[in-house]
Amino acid sequence: MCGIVGYIGTKKACPILLAGLTRLEYRGYDSAGISTIEKDCIKIVKDKGRVKELENKKEIKDLQGTVGIAHTRWATHGKPSKENAHPHKDNSNTFSVVHNGIIENYYDLRNLLEENGYKFYSETDTEVIPNLIHYYYKKELAINNEHTVQTFLRVVRNACLDIKGSYALEIISKDFPEYMIVVRKDSPLVIGTCKDEKYISSDIPAILSYTRDFYFLNDLEFAVLKNDDIKFYDTNLNQIDKKISNIEWDAMSSEKNGYEDFMLKEIYEQPTAIRETIGSRISVDNKCEFEELPLTKKELENIDKIYIIACGTAMHAGLAGKNVIEKLCRIPTEVDIASEFRYRDPIINNRTLSIFISQSGETADTIAALKLAKKSGSKTIAISNVIGSSITREADYSIYTHAGPEIAVASTKAYTSQVILVNMLAIYFAEILEKSNKEEIRNLKKEILELPKKIGETFNCAERIKQFAKKIYQEKDVFFLGRGIDETVAKEGSLKLKEISYIHSESYPAGELKHGPIALIESGITVIGILTDKLLVDKTVNNIQEVITRGARTLIITNQNVNYSMFDEVIIIPKVNTFLSPILSIIPLQLLAYYISKEKGLDVDKPRNLAKSVTVE
Ligand code: G6P
Repeated sequence: MCGIVGYIGTKKACPILLAGLTRLEYRGYDSAGISTIEKDCIKIVKDKGRVKELENKKEIKDLQGTVGIAHTRWATHGKPSKENAHPHKDNSNTFSVVHNGIIENYYDLRNLLEENGYKFYSETDTEVIPNLIHYYYKKELAINNEHTVQTFLRVVRNACLDIKGSYALEIISKDFPEYMIVVRKDSPLVIGTCKDEKYISSDIPAILSYTRDFYFLNDLEFAVLKNDDIKFYDTNLNQIDKKISNIEWDAMSSEKNGYEDFMLKEIYEQPTAIRETIGSRISVDNKCEFEELPLTKKELENIDKIYIIACGTAMHAGLAGKNVIEKLCRIPTEVDIASEFRYRDPIINNRTLSIFISQSGETADTIAALKLAKKSGSKTIAISNVIGSSITREADYSIYTHAGPEIAVASTKAYTSQVILVNMLAIYFAEILEKSNKEEIRNLKKEILELPKKIGETFNCAERIKQFAKKIYQEKDVFFLGRGIDETVAKEGSLKLKEISYIHSESYPAGELKHGPIALIESGITVIGILTDKLLVDKTVNNIQEVITRGARTLIITNQNVNYSMFDEVIIIPKVNTFLSPILSIIPLQLLAYYISKEKGLDVDKPRNLAKSVTVE
């Protein structure tokens, strides 16, 4: 995926754009570029490589303009190269564009433009955009040689109407040097505003140090920006009003604050993230509150099926939450991978409730699945960490995790916040439905409130995990085993390890081991077992015994009484209600992935080939 930043104001744009790009590098980091307006001409400096390399280029010092756009790329169309890096300009050097998303019909558009004499210098889909804008601009000028910003807006709008696909665009023009136009469709873009300055970005944290006041665009809404003015337009170019949203996140939370990496910082932020996400929603003696979710008993009684739909780590949070919903609400709950759900003709009707979990709120597959569910009559709830994100604008209801900005590609605090939120949602529904045992709910609430402290205690394992990482960092394969809710944590632990240490790992329900994977177990292989469910612990121990017999090295994460001497390493975590155990048992596994990655000298926060927010299919 890509990240875009823009600035229009009274200061030199380049340093602001570079700082923004550095913060957005998690979204893509194979090339970077900046374009500014310089004395009525457009300048572009770009190349493959990271933002740091762009910053060190000689030409970057020539960029003095106060209007600029910038981009960090994660290649989709065309390899990482200077030619393919953004910004892209049209043949006449009139328009410069950065783009996050994918133009699906770029081939047709490119043919049309080539037939009209345009030449292309890159392999990207994006290069059609400035040329298409110019194509309409030329037509306009042929009819009417008027140079108002309305002309600029009209030609950008005309181009957008031709484009199929997803895009967040920033466009500047040498003919309109005081303006910038931005528009989005199915790709993220936020606008930060101050008196004489406007900041544009793919996400809030990248520009949070400048302003807390943000505007959010809906699909195909256009913003015409000047340093001291913003006007918004719908697709028909009627002017529309937009409300400013005040974002409460602390700017410091987007910095490393003395930690070596964002991931480590975010792991240690989990007690706060959980405390903030619980907020005032839970107290032992009162009913759980979700003001933003005004569902009645009648509406909930009408629901006969719940889907939880998400991707990656967010999907694992859904798996960890499925059981608590079924147990407390007695409504069958299915967890689906968004990219599968959207193409498998799922059974949805007006008795279905679909819950979509997404840290960023911008994951393309999750948004598409949401649109499908909504179209088929389902009620939809978005769970996101980002206020105003696309998913929250599409869903009937939105509830937020308050984990604060998560910068590292590998998700940690967002996962545990999602798990706690789904637990609270289950309690909220159960209390409205008056279905479950009051004492059971009361106990669960008590345990939820104790969680931040227990997470703090779990961090005591860090040093031992670090030492264990030193022993296994050169391994080629690692297995994660668990049963029930522990298996969902095995999945997430295995994903963390793959993502940032590049070690091949598999997660299995412990009982499935004997149906094939045990053939892979040989002397010295590492097997990690998660044992927190009292009812299943003996069964899992038996399965782990089988791998010990075959020479495996074992690490156990547990809060149960088991014969510790059987295993090579045992990490004891605090006792906790089984529904909440993923929030504690994942912590040693997050730390393990982190320390292995460090031991291997890898870039923990920006693992190869991955992007934090996957805004294309
Ligand atoms: C990407 C990230 C994962 C994340 C997934 C879903 O694959 O690398 O860390 O879990 O997207 O992201 P979301 O923002 O929808 O939670």
